[in-house]
Amino acid sequence: MSDPKIIVALDYPDTNSALALADQIDPQRARVKVGKELFTRSGPDVVRQLVNRGFDVFLDLKYHDIPHTVGRACAAAADLGVWMLNVHTLGGTAMMQSARAAVGRDADSPLLIGVTLLTSMDQATFEQIGLTGKMSDTVLRLANMAKHSQLDGVVCSAQEATMLRDELGADFQLVTPGIRPAGSERGDQHRTMTPAQALSAGSHYLVIGRPISAAPDPMQALQAIENSL
Ligand code: C5P
Repeated sequence: MSDPKIIVALDYPDTNSALALADQIDPQRARVKVGKELFTRSGPDVVRQLVNRGFDVFLDLKYHDIPHTVGRACAAAADLGVWMLNVHTLGGTAMMQSARAAVGRDADSPLLIGVTLLTSMDQATFEQIGLTGKMSDTVLRLANMAKHSQLDGVVCSAQEATMLRDELGADFQLVTPGIRPAGSERGDQHRTMTPAQALSAGSHYLVIGRPISAAPDPMQALQAIENSL
């Protein structure tokens, strides 16, 4: 079984556009991510279609609500047959434990991942919402809470990957968005790294959206990223 490191974010406004890109990708070569825009427009059906095509699907809905509601939402996501799903660590340990209990820990259970601080967050926004100190200390605290709540890993910036691997161990899965191949547009992301840098920093999975989906030739962009690894 191959273990592709690249997760292509299918950030499209409709099922046809998402499947048009997915149909060019070999599921042995890359995983795919369904996020809030596509899911809100296309619903669970697009997830089922991707699962039926053989893709490992990361359902990136970043649940953050009361523990009961998050547990039920996670159970519903697991029923769709996704490979990975996520919750916000800022929801606290009771919420994460409820998610863990709902998802279970069987061999075929999805990976349950906690979002720490968004990779788009900069120091000014961090302070604006009332957080103080170093952002990396907050990320470490939230990741420790996720591990304590029996989550399988966290979403973080690749800039924090080495610290988290050293503190939490190599088995704790590090999923890193904010990946930008050299020379590509940063967009709204702030704490970015190149694909090769992110993997050598300790990232297990690279979430890549616009550098592939907004490229004139997305498959050529994917190939170039693979070649750079
Ligand atoms: O286009 P880009 O490569 O910036 O896409 C990154 C993807 O990863 C988006 O779908 C975004 O929602 C998601 N994501 C993120 N930061 C997180 C969690 C998920 O950018 N902390």
